[in-house]
Amino acid sequence: MSVKIGENIDLGEFPLLLAPMEDVSDPPFRYVCKQNGVDLMYTEFISSEGLIRDAAKSIQKLDIFEYERPIGIQIFGGDIEHMRQSAEICTKANPDLIDINYGCPVKKVVCKGAGSSLLQDIDKMVAMTKAVVEATHLPVTVKTRLGWDDNTKNVYEVAERLQDVGIKALAIHGRTRAQLYKGQADWSMIRDVKRNPRIKIPIFGNGDVDSVEKAAAWRQEYEVDGIMIGRAAIGYPWIFREIKHFFNTGERLEGPTIAERVDVCKTHLIKSIEWKGDKLGIFEMRRHYANYFKGIPNFKESRMKLVSLQTKEEILEVLEEIEHTFHTELI
Ligand SMILES: Cc1cc2nc3c(=O)[nH]c(=O)nc-3n(C[C@H](O)[C@H](O)[C@H](O)COP(=O)(O)O)c2cc1C
Repeated sequence: MSVKIGENIDLGEFPLLLAPMEDVSDPPFRYVCKQNGVDLMYTEFISSEGLIRDAAKSIQKLDIFEYERPIGIQIFGGDIEHMRQSAEICTKANPDLIDINYGCPVKKVVCKGAGSSLLQDIDKMVAMTKAVVEATHLPVTVKTRLGWDDNTKNVYEVAERLQDVGIKALAIHGRTRAQLYKGQADWSMIRDVKRNPRIKIPIFGNGDVDSVEKAAAWRQEYEVDGIMIGRAAIGYPWIFREIKHFFNTGERLEGPTIAERVDVCKTHLIKSIEWKGDKLGIFEMRRHYANYFKGIPNFKESRMKLVSLQTKEEILEVLEEIEHTFHTELI
């Protein structure tokens, strides 16, 4: 059965979502994930304070492209009125949906009463969500965690109350705020939410999915409507097509060849330069090379070149060199 967000966003059967990731899920990275079959993507989280102050950095994050659809813009903040205003600003950017971040555990966000901090004040979370829902004609979705800490795992109640004020889907990261990214994600409460007969909206599971096997096993075990993947897609956007292929055919797809790795890395670089300009595009791409070529023995020398060269032409040349040098390596 097809999974739908609101009336109009049809994600097909068991969609795979790219998790919003600060400094990672920008348009160049989203491009290579889209090429590999991801069903729904989000921008990285955008500060509502930045949006209403018209801060250039926040406004730039609203850039979305037609080929990215369906795409959500994710916002965060601690002030209800500012979140309402930023929902209006986001609506003008014309995404397919607006997502609210109630999951970010980072101190500088939590200190301002934003992100996962709202898990400590569900009344305020509900009021904020209602304000955002009423400020836009677009579907509003939420991403959150199991609760603040081990003693307050309240996502079951959160899901009911947010559905009541009109959210159209909920993504749950199977950790508490106190856990940050430590330990293992526990999806059993995500299943409890999904099994709640009152819950009608799609429930997406998030946290630690990093292989086809895990995606298949957790789909069965936790009964979620789809899976959201973050870290495992960094440097490995093929994870989406591999999982999709397995679900569609029951067969494992071969991993990418060196030529494919080089090809996607080139595309990512070119898109990065297109979007950010030469200097920043080349600089910000540096963090990705090691991930794209993870597992290749004796890669260090090539990596050193990639992260120190200053021009697109030189980097493309090294990437071609990599293809020729390592094309026989099996990873
Ligand atoms: C570098 C990084 C940046 C992140 N930024 C965001 C963000 O902007 N918004 C958000 O909701 N979650 C953010 N997250 C959390 C991820 O969306 C996701 O919930 C988390 O990584 C767990 O999923 P995974 O195990 O598949 O990576 C971030 C995670 C990482 C690693």
